[in-house]
Amino acid sequence: MSWDELYETARTIVADDKGILAADESTGTIKKRFDSIGVESTEENRRAYRNLLFTTAGMEEYIGGVILYDETIRQAADDGTPFAELLASKGVVPGIKVDTGAKPFALFPGETVTEGLDGLRERLEEYRELGARFAKWRAVITIGNGIPTDACIHANAHALARYAALCQEAGIVPIVEPEVLMDADNSIETCDEVTGRTLIALYAALYAFDVHLRGTLLKPNMVIAGKGSPSQASTEQVASMTVHNLKRHVPSLVPGIVFLSGGQSEVQATENLNAINRIGGPWPLSYSYGRALQASALTAWGGEAANVEAAQAAFLHRARMNSLAVAGQWEASLEEQVAASR
Ligand code: 13P
Repeated sequence: MSWDELYETARTIVADDKGILAADESTGTIKKRFDSIGVESTEENRRAYRNLLFTTAGMEEYIGGVILYDETIRQAADDGTPFAELLASKGVVPGIKVDTGAKPFALFPGETVTEGLDGLRERLEEYRELGARFAKWRAVITIGNGIPTDACIHANAHALARYAALCQEAGIVPIVEPEVLMDADNSIETCDEVTGRTLIALYAALYAFDVHLRGTLLKPNMVIAGKGSPSQASTEQVASMTVHNLKRHVPSLVPGIVFLSGGQSEVQATENLNAINRIGGPWPLSYSYGRALQASALTAWGGEAANVEAAQAAFLHRARMNSLAVAGQWEASLEEQVAASR
């Protein structure tokens, strides 16, 4: 393992305004997505859907890395090429989700701690052989009455740092994802405060465990009001509070910050990312979206082979819009032109 290689991998993923496609939905999560379009979640349907995304011509102009799930990294495209190999051949870095999910945090009702450290060294070794060059671990921080507690924030930061160290030992770039959920009815100020506490604990743990920050990527939430909040902040406010928060808490040598979409609509996630980049910071500010890159594509597909082309067009459009947002060059009119041409 070389530190330069880790840095190069991290830098490559976010070079040229590219971002990440998070296609690492666990079997449970992809079932929910398929339920929403009336498609049965069989292994073959999951493979066919990922095949559609990964074989989209031109996606590599916008997508620098794809996060896979354990099942997906063992699957192959229609022509038999393993997915990781297919992506790498297009210059897209294959990644892998390695946590085993957020589980109830003992003695702290309503909070979770992410698990998956046991056996992780051996799993990372196998994933690297299967082609993975970066990994993801998602910690979940919930806002509510009296939560998050410091205990929860610290348990999750500790796990993220142990995971990150194991990844670097294996020559794999860790994406550290401390997601503050936007599902409650809290104000943007509360999200700002909780995001700050979370990032302080995360970087303290990463430093304590000797993780080399140049060989990591950060996947944070935007600073945003909870979905149920009656007072939703403007795009400009989300952008300025997000950039300010990150500038206070994230060391400038981190090679990239890739936001999660967290339940924002496709266009909202793009618009906010664009406004964030119009302010800018010392790091590339890009995306690692799941739902905000796939929602239209999933609906357009609907499980029908005849709709593959339309679904690929929808996915490519979102990827292009988000890369324009990374450059700060997205305009709402670009969405309307495409809607009109359909
Ligand atoms: P969303 O963009 O749908 O929030 O998913 C990103 C992700 O990978 C969460 O871990």
